[in-house]
Amino acid sequence: MNATMDKTEILAWLRETDAARLAELWRRADETRRRQVGDAVHLRGLVEISNFCVRQCGYCGLRAGNTRIARYRMLAGEILEAARQAVKFGYGTVVLQSGEDYGLTTSWLADMIRQLKRETPLAVTLSLGERSDRELAAWRAAGADRYLLRFETSDRHLLDEIHPPLGNRKRDRLAILRRLKALGYEIGSGIMVGLPGQTYASVANDIELFRILDLDMIGIGPYIPHPGTPLGSGFQIFPPVNGEQVPNTELMVYKAIALTRLVRPDANIPATTALATINKKNGRELGLQRGANVFMPNLTPLKYRRLYEIYPAKACIAETDVKCHGCLNARIHTIGRHIGQGPGGRRNRDLPSAERGSRSRSHPQLHTDVVLSRALETVEPLRVADPSTLRSTATEDGRSDLARLPQTLESSSHA
Ligand code: 5AD
Ligand code: FES
Repeated sequence: MNATMDKTEILAWLRETDAARLAELWRRADETRRRQVGDAVHLRGLVEISNFCVRQCGYCGLRAGNTRIARYRMLAGEILEAARQAVKFGYGTVVLQSGEDYGLTTSWLADMIRQLKRETPLAVTLSLGERSDRELAAWRAAGADRYLLRFETSDRHLLDEIHPPLGNRKRDRLAILRRLKALGYEIGSGIMVGLPGQTYASVANDIELFRILDLDMIGIGPYIPHPGTPLGSGFQIFPPVNGEQVPNTELMVYKAIALTRLVRPDANIPATTALATINKKNGRELGLQRGANVFMPNLTPLKYRRLYEIYPAKACIAETDVKCHGCLNARIHTIGRHIGQGPGGRRNRDLPSAERGSRSRSHPQLHTDVVLSRALETVEPLRVADPSTLRSTATEDGRSDLARLPQTLESSSHA
């Protein structure tokens, strides 16, 4: 069991049911986490700045078609206040998250970022959906440090079904990640586990993709059905996948987290809120003991928090930020860990991947390495100071290195 574990081994672990063997997986993941990123748990203060969204994802409660939620967009003063709270609690990072909301304009957000950077020592992470190159460059130039954009699943057919394109504007998430990296952002991505139609082989491909992409952060959570969505209401159904359907259980999420830690030893991996939602008692702690090293406490003002309903019954929906802070502190200390200081970026980020102890290996049965290395590692650096020099990566024919990628993965999975 090591960082060069191949896809067959990953698949076998995903199917493993023997408790003693799984205990060994947890132990190895925890040991790797401790050796590579230490005992500090980094806290990122999450501020859900808007729940408007133009997209129609089949799984997400914020989808434009969900007319049952009241929409909000936080005021600049409210965002700054939440960020000040993050500083007061000693967090090193603030994460500004929203649906894909073009009401959050380029210049407004750039001003916001500049003000945050001026007034606080916080690292600023953005998680705002599939925005244009120009916007991403402007926000980077304003001082944003990181961007989170999950690819959700590497199965392109499944993704096309549940995450339809916006009109004829095709942008694929791996291409955007590549752009973000070229702009100098630390990049984060991730998946949902247990999506209808998602197979074991597909999750093994996702983990393979984590290995190959040079990601700084990797978020993994269970898919949680939302009754106000086509997928969650049963309106959108998928043909059965012959016993290959991955369950959306906490056990599957722990397996995916542990395997991800083994293939990407130095990544920042959160114990996600979705995981805490399906096991409110100790999902976070177990995630942190099986490979994770980050948590994202919610700093969204209470009056907005219940409206940011990506999925139902979200953990920490009614607790004040002060209460969550105390609760997390206690949970982290109970498992013998401590709260990390400072921004907590990926430590070895600037080293070549070989020196970070995790290398993309060439697997004869997988043709992903070449495609992916090209996808992310051979991009020439861009000057962020002048966004007008950027060309669009939303490829005109709707294809890109990354659009081709899941196909490659798929064909390999039947090999
Ligand atoms: N269940 C679990 N996670 C979800 N997300 C969106 N909808 C759901 C759901 N129903 C996740 C997606 C998205 C992140 C912000 O929330 O992975 O990228
Ligand atoms: Fe908003 Fe998917 S519905 S990003």
